[in-house]
Amino acid sequence: MLNNVSVERLREIDQKYLSWGDTVHYQERPIIADHCHGELIHDLEGNTYIDTQMWHSSCNFGYRNPTIEQACRKQFEKLPQISGDFLHEEKLLLAEKVCQAIYERTGIKGRISFNVSGTLVVEDALKIVRQNTGRNRVATMMGGYHGRSLTVSGLSSSHRYRQYYGEFADRAIMFPFAKCDQCFYDKNREDCGLYCGKMIARSLESDFYGISSHDSNEIGAIFLEMCQGRGYTIPPKGFYDEFVPEMRRRGILIVDDEIQVGMYRTGKLFAFEHYGVVPDIITLSKSFTNGLNPLSMVWAREELVSPSVFTPGHAHSNFANHPLGTSAALATWDYMMEQDYENTLPEKAKRYLAGLKKLKDKYACIHHVDGLGMLFNISFADAMGKPIENAGKYAVTLAQDEDYFYAGQRLRMVLNSGGYWNESLKLAPYLDITYQEIDRTLSVLDQVIANLHKKLENK
Ligand SMILES: Cc1ncc(COP(=O)(O)O)c(C=O)c1O
Repeated sequence: MLNNVSVERLREIDQKYLSWGDTVHYQERPIIADHCHGELIHDLEGNTYIDTQMWHSSCNFGYRNPTIEQACRKQFEKLPQISGDFLHEEKLLLAEKVCQAIYERTGIKGRISFNVSGTLVVEDALKIVRQNTGRNRVATMMGGYHGRSLTVSGLSSSHRYRQYYGEFADRAIMFPFAKCDQCFYDKNREDCGLYCGKMIARSLESDFYGISSHDSNEIGAIFLEMCQGRGYTIPPKGFYDEFVPEMRRRGILIVDDEIQVGMYRTGKLFAFEHYGVVPDIITLSKSFTNGLNPLSMVWAREELVSPSVFTPGHAHSNFANHPLGTSAALATWDYMMEQDYENTLPEKAKRYLAGLKKLKDKYACIHHVDGLGMLFNISFADAMGKPIENAGKYAVTLAQDEDYFYAGQRLRMVLNSGGYWNESLKLAPYLDITYQEIDRTLSVLDQVIANLHKKLENK
């Protein structure tokens, strides 16, 4: 503890001086973090937590990754601050590397602009859409999340983020997502024929469905999270093929929000690579700097953002090109590319998912488990398959507030809940996790779910 202040006093300050409008007080007794490394967080009260969610996928490459930290230290010694009105080397090299990586995967040339947060690059993407299509309205998916500024709240599905803030004139049109464990249409994945995807395409067919006529439509773009951050929902292969080509035919741009599921989270650099969708616009943030100085980016096809179209001043934030951010992102990018994740992750992912499946066989309250790369979900339901509301949230509290043991060590766990009824857990371990750490995680998770199972039975 650097400031020699007691934990009780810090909790008093929280009670008295902090607004609770952020997400800290989702938990009654928030962790007061002290230090972290790899997948572990240590708090001021002597507890050690295995983090299974890595700051909602903002630290895919582990806390205090030494290679990335070292690059930041060097930047601190050389050019720690400089106005965004100037260029600097790290920004330029980073832009080139990202554009080349996208070109290699799509064959499309494009350009990048940087900003500070995920929400802000979604805002920038919206500007690019409006400018190029002349349309304000966009489509998104039920269950989707793109940020919480006033404008972007109109794209994020959750009503509770909007309910206090009046009218949202440009609120996105929202289509049901392929959340197959709780299908919106009550279908079964095995024989549904991707009905939900087909319905999205159908909604464009008639003037009287309210979105488009034969030669016009009201939406400029569809914003997609290929796998949804809300519960790490993984749609079936083929889902996007049901409606993306039809949208393209009608001039609707495809915006791929990779903020949470990009950067090898799903085993590939970008999640779109699993689905054969070629986006017009891509956003990245979170693990772009491995959670160090914030930096986000939006990439768009050349014709959408060429300097004659997206002229100087269209996008700006004072800290949008902060050199501590660009150097962290450049070091993260280089580190990530050196790891050969495409070949090393599948075996680890297999072991992790096999462990989760074992838990499903063991506990009746687990309804469904799924995974893509190092992104996993577990959902809880009753014997009739009805989601157990808040079971995921309850598991988060039990994991965080009670002790578990592995090889004689006392441990706690950071979990993240999700799903449309908070009925699930979403897991995003760091990508450099060792096999031993996977086994440790699964063992502690087993104890947490045993605890949850018992408590649910006694409710
Ligand atoms: C898919 C997605 N888009 C956008 C955002 C918003 O990012 P930020 O919180 O950095 O503004 C998030 C954040 O969780 C996200 O998961």
